[in-house]
Amino acid sequence: MTGFLMEKTYTSVRGTQDLSPPETHLFNLLASKARRVFRLYGYEEVLLPLLEEEAIFVRAVGETTDIVEKQMLRVVRNLENAKEDIVLRPEGTAQVARYFIENSLYKKGDFYKFCYFGPMFRGERPQRGRLRQFHHLGAEAIGSFNVFLDAEIMELALKILDVLGIKEKKLELNFLGCSKDKERFKEFLKEELCGFRERFCKDCQRRLEKNPLRVFDCKEEICRDITQRISSLEKRSYLCSDCRDYFKELRKILDELKIMAEVNFRLVRGLDYYTHTVFEITSSRLGAQNALGAGGRYNHLIKDLGGPQTPAVGFALGLERIMLALEEKVVPEPLGVFVAVVGSSFYKEGIKILETLRRNQFSSDIDYCVKSLKGQLRYAEKKGFRFVVILGEEEFKQGVLVLRDMQGSFQERIKKDQLIDILSLRLARDAK
Ligand code: HAM
Repeated sequence: MTGFLMEKTYTSVRGTQDLSPPETHLFNLLASKARRVFRLYGYEEVLLPLLEEEAIFVRAVGETTDIVEKQMLRVVRNLENAKEDIVLRPEGTAQVARYFIENSLYKKGDFYKFCYFGPMFRGERPQRGRLRQFHHLGAEAIGSFNVFLDAEIMELALKILDVLGIKEKKLELNFLGCSKDKERFKEFLKEELCGFRERFCKDCQRRLEKNPLRVFDCKEEICRDITQRISSLEKRSYLCSDCRDYFKELRKILDELKIMAEVNFRLVRGLDYYTHTVFEITSSRLGAQNALGAGGRYNHLIKDLGGPQTPAVGFALGLERIMLALEEKVVPEPLGVFVAVVGSSFYKEGIKILETLRRNQFSSDIDYCVKSLKGQLRYAEKKGFRFVVILGEEEFKQGVLVLRDMQGSFQERIKKDQLIDILSLRLARDAK
């Protein structure tokens, strides 16, 4: 490729990433494997817009959360002078809730299982595993307050990670209780932490007043240090008896399913809509941003957004973090057949062979840059083609082709009309 001068060099936006082959193959492979598991558990995919009204997230995720306070990416030029502020969606749960209400799905059925896959946007400070545009593989089960569903949702998240090749992972679990319990918990925290008020960072001092749960999200060492010291959390005296029973039952079911979960009383999740069960799946391969995914119950979100009282539970996994945590890199399937033509007068013949290959579903390509045979072979090897078909003057005259096996590095002359049969046999042998 020839170089050229540009006045300005453009770069990708900070916190976003370009994905090139072979990572794109891996990305698509992981997404399609996950989709198969979602299907296995009865989840149906929804494809929702990247743009949403900001107010939805303010209401659902919470005014005092980091996402709403610091990370919303506003779309400045609103179309048709819309009155509402529009943002790039930071997460999918509130969006699925909006979709559920807007389409009055509660009138058409009483239970839904949705899954989604797509980009989310948060204006966070970028670092390894923390992007401003990343992808969620998410699931939301709407319409049931059944403890078995909480267990299933965790099982599903772990199953997807297993299928995608994540062996090392830890499930952390906590139980926030019903709304009344949560309020009691907040009061308890206020009392417990008021003695440390002056030592908290400015943000947390404010959070302590407005929404004390959020002090657990703070990344400042001093604030973390203080929250680590609340030893009486284990007593969980703020939970009502129904909630205690629910949590006990959940842990029993997880035991029976042989799902190891470590209870972490400090796990409150950085989004306000959660009640009851919350969980996070972490990997020690990830460093500071160690959550592969997270989720929980949100029994009041749909009502808060203007729908009927509808219990729900879900999770989302971060695809970029899964790619970072993969122990073995998945090798993509090799490309099929490269047609190498020696001499431009046979190029049209080469194109005919290419058409036959493609008609027979073999991924195949030809040289478009007038390379020498050596150059074409080098290109085919670099791109990972499984076979090369060579066509030159001699072959053309005799109605034969040279078929080169790029894995075994040997070649043979075959009759032109046998090409498809021979390739089918070889590839079937590969697949065994
Ligand atoms: P979340 O914990 O904010 O939950 O995000 C879920 C996962 O997305 C995280 O565990 C992480 O793997 C990934 N993730 C989050 N932020 C970033 C980032 N800046 N860069 C890369 N990956 C990131 C939710 O969003 C909830 N909606 C989950 C849920 C669904 N709860 C119930 N249903």
